[in-house]
Amino acid sequence: IKRLAVLTSGGDAPGMNACIRAIVLTASACNIEVIGFKHGFNGLLEQEYQTLHAMHVDNIIQRGGTILKSARCPALQQANGPAEAADALKQLDIDALIVIGGDGSFRGAMAISNFYDGQLIGVPGTIDNDVDGTDRTIGFATAIDTALDAIDKIRDTADAFERIFLVELMGRHSGYISLAAGIAGGAEQIICPEFGQLNPDNLRPIIKPIQHAQLLKGKSSYLIVVAENSYPGGATSLAEALTKAIGIECRACILGHIQRGGSPVGADRILATKLGAFAVEQLMHGATLVMAGEVNGEACLYPLAKTGDKAKAIDPFLVRWQQQIGSY
Ligand code: F6P
Repeated sequence: IKRLAVLTSGGDAPGMNACIRAIVLTASACNIEVIGFKHGFNGLLEQEYQTLHAMHVDNIIQRGGTILKSARCPALQQANGPAEAADALKQLDIDALIVIGGDGSFRGAMAISNFYDGQLIGVPGTIDNDVDGTDRTIGFATAIDTALDAIDKIRDTADAFERIFLVELMGRHSGYISLAAGIAGGAEQIICPEFGQLNPDNLRPIIKPIQHAQLLKGKSSYLIVVAENSYPGGATSLAEALTKAIGIECRACILGHIQRGGSPVGADRILATKLGAFAVEQLMHGATLVMAGEVNGEACLYPLAKTGDKAKAIDPFLVRWQQQIGSY
């Protein structure tokens, strides 16, 4: 490999910069030239890029966001998008492309592979942790701590006002962040897609534990963590429905994009460094159409085409504990 390219795509995640840094440092040490495409696949299609030397990745390991910028790329989904992206890679003499992103971004890479003879490798970077073939994605650990910080603060005001709060967390269609932050924050209830679809016409399963807690335990605050997309209209609608049903005011707090920002925690910086460096090493060994992930603490490769299978289950032990004991 003489020249490799890297891009960050989809929702940015804390640790993407640490990953770019590891890729540039590892490649530079092996005399491989690195270029970075800007704004995800858009920069590839428009040939908007910058050469990345070690000095460009100085002092970025601690920064959230991504120095390459990120974006979703509708143009890649057009009929001729993947072929045009492959042409751009050929024109720029790129021997290998590293895509840091989630399974949607990896689908984009797979589409390009139909027209491109070079190597393609993915590195899982998304706060959602919903990528098969890796136990953790870059950004997940930081997002948990960010959400937890907010939950702890909401707990203080909920306690002072003896209120019921619903905190909506991100995750797209997955409950990883909600389960982790909900458990760590001692949430009385956690609602996420993996627990089954909530029936808006039957809120009894949520109401019963609230009433039980208020009548029997005299709780002064009650927190329900709600994963986005697990109730029509989200936590705001659910709070309104609950207020009407139980006659006690329920407040909603939508945490939103705060969860994507901030300085990556140590675990994310280490994971990002490991997977970025591993991806470059594996490219040099000829790897292609794979994702560089981590399973049981070991860096490993996983077929890129299978990263979106969604077979990775949220921790069944914690799910059972929360449902049987934590929701008291
Ligand atoms: O995939 C990361 C994520 O933050 C999801 O948790 C969320 O559903 C989505 O991206 C939001 O995307 P956007 O920033 O495009 O609204």
